[in-house]
Amino acid sequence: MALEYFKATDFRCLAAVELDIDPSYNLVYGQNASGKTSLLEALSYMGRGKSFRGASVQNLVRHGAREFVLFGRTVNAGVSRHIGVRNGPAGLETSVDGVHDGGAAALAEALPLQVIDPDIHDLVAGGPEQRRRFLDWATFHVEHGYLDAWRRFRRALKQRNAALRQGAGAAELGGWDREFVATALVVDAARRRAFDLLLPCLAEAAADLLGAEVAFDYRQGWASEEDLATALVGAQGRDRQQGSSQVGPQRADIRLVFDERQARKMVSRGQQKLLACAMVLGATELVQGELERKLLLLLDDPAAELDDRSLARLMARVARLESQVIATALQPQANLFPAPPRMFHVEQGIVSPAT
Ligand SMILES: Nc1ncnc2c1ncn2[C@@H]1O[C@H](COP(=O)(O)OP(=O)(O)OP(=O)(O)O)[C@@H](O)[C@H]1O
Ligand SMILES: [Mg+2]
Repeated sequence: MALEYFKATDFRCLAAVELDIDPSYNLVYGQNASGKTSLLEALSYMGRGKSFRGASVQNLVRHGAREFVLFGRTVNAGVSRHIGVRNGPAGLETSVDGVHDGGAAALAEALPLQVIDPDIHDLVAGGPEQRRRFLDWATFHVEHGYLDAWRRFRRALKQRNAALRQGAGAAELGGWDREFVATALVVDAARRRAFDLLLPCLAEAAADLLGAEVAFDYRQGWASEEDLATALVGAQGRDRQQGSSQVGPQRADIRLVFDERQARKMVSRGQQKLLACAMVLGATELVQGELERKLLLLLDDPAAELDDRSLARLMARVARLESQVIATALQPQANLFPAPPRMFHVEQGIVSPAT
């Protein structure tokens, strides 16, 4: 699969942008505040229905405009697909090949992508939520029906939390616990299967990029020796105090384990970035294999915080995946890729083909 055409209207500083994209390598360069990240954010929005920087719709719509509109055309084995996204006061509207009710899940299926941006080290150094989202992304792509299972669990979690806040008695809470456990175990089992597939890809990518062994450990969100129903009963006191459920898949995490020498190095942001990139590229490799199609990789300023050798290792790993890549840089740095990229210059929100 490749995204061959992209158009954005009124997205951040981009009033009207139209691009014919190369199926392999693309480099978007321009000065600070020219609109490089805005362009990648627009592209990623088309595959996710949300911003990778967590921005609200009001911040994404260009100042003075009412709504933004994105359009893309992908091609896979000669078959074209059309993706449309609009957001503004009327809310998110999506369209994939003329079907309008698919929402973000339809976008993710039509344009699977991954983003590496300068905040990527948070995946390693930040809290569990980002690693959970990372695992859920992989699970969504490799486990059929995961989204439904996840939504059922979210509903059960919300209901249980509401009951806790309303001071529900033991019998009522027990009723919510049964639904919570039933839905939680489906989510956990799917994550576990996805994690088992993911593990060798993560370990190999980390060894390649860091030249060191890193172990990855799936944490289900409650004590491993306990069954969830028992853990819920045990946590009831804390749950009531907090007004929310303290154990369960909403607390899952991927724990990273290094040896002592490596752990000392991991305080460096460059090392954290490399490990986070290894995780993203490892997951990309898995999902590409499962879907039997190439993903779109958006690399926002990949050079940030990396020395030349680390950047070269990262880009060699990217090249090995044979994904479609759109990268940004301050300079027209064509040697970032093993083959000449298609170049675009951005200036004040205007993107033009460059040589
Ligand atoms: N909703 C919006 N409407 C109009 N302009 C916006 C909006 N949101 C952000 N901007 C502006 O877009 C400009 C480009 O920002 P962007 O982050 O895309 O730049 P960049 O090229 O990635 O810069 P850097 O090299 O510093 O990363 C900024 O000047 C920002 O103030
Ligand atoms: Mg930027």
